Amino acid sequence: MKLNLPLALVVAILITGCSNDSTKKDNKVEELLSQMTLDEKVGQLNQYAVGPELTGPGEKTGQTKVRYDQLLSGQVGSVLNVLGAKNGREMQKQVVENTRLGIPLVFGYDVIHGYKTIFPIPLGESASWDLELMEATARVAAVETSAAGVQWTFAPMMDVGRDPRWGRVMEGAGEDTYLGAEIAKARVKGFQGSDLSSTNTIAACAKHFAGYGFSESGKDYNNVYMGQHMLLNTVIPPFKASAAVGVATFMNSFNDLDGIPSTANPYLLRDLLKGDWKYDGMVVSDWNSVGELIPHGVARNKYEAARMAINAGSDMDMEGAAYVENLKQLVEKGEVSMNVLDDAVRRVLTLKQRLGLLDDPYKYFDEAREAEQMMKKEHLDLARDAARKSIVLLKNQGNLLPLKGKRIAVIGPLAKDKDTPIGNWRAAADPNSAVSLFEGLTEGMPDVNFTYAEGCKLSIGPNNFANELQIENNDRSGFAEAIRVARSAEVVIMNLGEPAYMSGEARSRSEIGLPGLQLELLKEVYKVNKNIVLVLMNGRPLTIEWESENIPAIVEAWHLGSMAGHAIADVLSGKYNPSGKLTMSFPRSVGQIPVYYNHKMTGRPSTGSNMVFYTHHMDVERSPRYPFGYGLSYSIFSYSPVTLIDSVKTAGTSITAKVTVTNNSAADGEEVVQLYIRDVVGSITRPVLELKGFQKSMIKAGESKEFTFEITDELLSFYRRDFSFGTEPGEFEVFVGPSSAQLQSASFTLK
Ligand code: BGC
Repeated sequence: MKLNLPLALVVAILITGCSNDSTKKDNKVEELLSQMTLDEKVGQLNQYAVGPELTGPGEKTGQTKVRYDQLLSGQVGSVLNVLGAKNGREMQKQVVENTRLGIPLVFGYDVIHGYKTIFPIPLGESASWDLELMEATARVAAVETSAAGVQWTFAPMMDVGRDPRWGRVMEGAGEDTYLGAEIAKARVKGFQGSDLSSTNTIAACAKHFAGYGFSESGKDYNNVYMGQHMLLNTVIPPFKASAAVGVATFMNSFNDLDGIPSTANPYLLRDLLKGDWKYDGMVVSDWNSVGELIPHGVARNKYEAARMAINAGSDMDMEGAAYVENLKQLVEKGEVSMNVLDDAVRRVLTLKQRLGLLDDPYKYFDEAREAEQMMKKEHLDLARDAARKSIVLLKNQGNLLPLKGKRIAVIGPLAKDKDTPIGNWRAAADPNSAVSLFEGLTEGMPDVNFTYAEGCKLSIGPNNFANELQIENNDRSGFAEAIRVARSAEVVIMNLGEPAYMSGEARSRSEIGLPGLQLELLKEVYKVNKNIVLVLMNGRPLTIEWESENIPAIVEAWHLGSMAGHAIADVLSGKYNPSGKLTMSFPRSVGQIPVYYNHKMTGRPSTGSNMVFYTHHMDVERSPRYPFGYGLSYSIFSYSPVTLIDSVKTAGTSITAKVTVTNNSAADGEEVVQLYIRDVVGSITRPVLELKGFQKSMIKAGESKEFTFEITDELLSFYRRDFSFGTEPGEFEVFVGPSSAQLQSASFTLK
């Protein structure tokens, strides 16, 4: 079967959210503001969670009831985790009809990779390098979310992540700043469309501002130490790019940054975001991050915490109750000015106005639309396409793939698991609603005789919020059956990895190999049958040294969402030629972390010399196991040398780089051609390579295609020694290739 949806479907999905922009400049917001009492103003800045879904601790943890006392007295501006058009309408009605000014609520929810139809986890999806696709999946997520009465998602997460111990790398776009910024923009556009007031678009949220991905030792919420140049050059660009394309909201990060928690950080919020970038959207705290200024040790109590956070520029207090309890007094005592308060309230009201809620508070609550929009065929088709484009072929020795045998064993605790592929941050997905690998294979390859054995168990304990990992480490009773089915098969597919809730928020790990008995199982099976295709499902890069040395074929299949099994079967069977490339390096060992392609040189760089006195670990190779940008295809591509049209570039002009890529195989395939640049000498030390462009393109069997890249001043600019943004003259090296570790180069001088 050939799924021929990509371009037509993607375009159709994209335009459904693109009616004309209607940013109305009426004075409704100012009118309202002028009528509001101090209490009512404070109320607009208060957000709390309703319902059993909790994503963190806090004062009201466990609260499943609505605080009617607050709602009906105008003390709530927004709620999170209220789902369904009916529930939303009822709550909105209470607020609109019972409060003095009838200001509607805005409803928020974490829609990270789909609402009901689940797409690949964002890290996986980023491996598609397909910006149109990522915009389209966010678009569909917005269609379903808005139909369920929610107008605001806390996504996309755009924290650059270089530490795979940190469980939240699953939510981001990997280790690279440039790619991260491109993907952030695509996702924001997908959620918001071009008209936020349209009923099928939702407000996006640039999170977590800032530095959260650099928590020490990958432990969630941990402290972050980073110099200002690194902050500006590595962490900030995706946020700045999102602000530039009009992301409606920002969210603080939990961490401190060199001693100052982000929630109370005026440099981030007032100087950069609302100052330099002139951002006019709204900043929400993270879950009780205002209250957490107390355990951080910078505030003695919530009164101080509220004062610090609002003065720093955090507009809305999520689940902390610090604003609602203290802001009135703070204003009355003059510790927070009316201007600061009004500015925050204005931003909240403006969000509501942009969403069209001030004109019609009920416009998003349409039960008929809700019933019709969930998991529609075209949403599922897109989920399948996104899933197969996210798959990365890591190894394919002897062309074991695409599958050829007729007797194939499928082994592993994830092979029939219909829940794990949905991944963490699964919004309103129904449990066990993914297509399992076994289902995908049996449906997609009816001529093959598939046998199955679970091999070992994989679960992380009693519930999704289990504090300690409780992976089964003793029960080997399934090994014998696994060995039996492996013995009589031509090829064995082993489906191993991490359960859904082993990555995501607060799921940091100190070891990132296959958990439980899985590696042991793999080794036992390998003893009886070496023709193994290892299909990995995981939310982060793993350490897979033995696997990479010994297993002939390895397929990285992340947590791919609702259509996971079909998508993997499409790749294994050869119906789809894999085209994904890693966006985060896979380390060889935990001790190598952080290992990322765009590191600096150091004074004693690892040049390959075997001298002892250089930057290295003595006991592990310097390279990652699988580098950024890496991924195989069933096609074989070769690259011509890269040529530059000129050897000198002057300011204001661009210089063109060209390369020809040939498909030397019988299989049509897509390739991601990557452009990297190195600024050889700078006023501060510069990365050895920086991604500065990429093009994904189908190259037919036997075809040669020329790719051109325009190198502009913007691509060469950075925050210089004096923190100004711009270029510096001198020599630049340009690299083009299929991954960050296989590059051809040329150089030019910037005059
Ligand atoms: C997370 C945020 C999320 C919020 C609301 C927090 O724990 O850090 O990313 O949006 O909860 O669920």
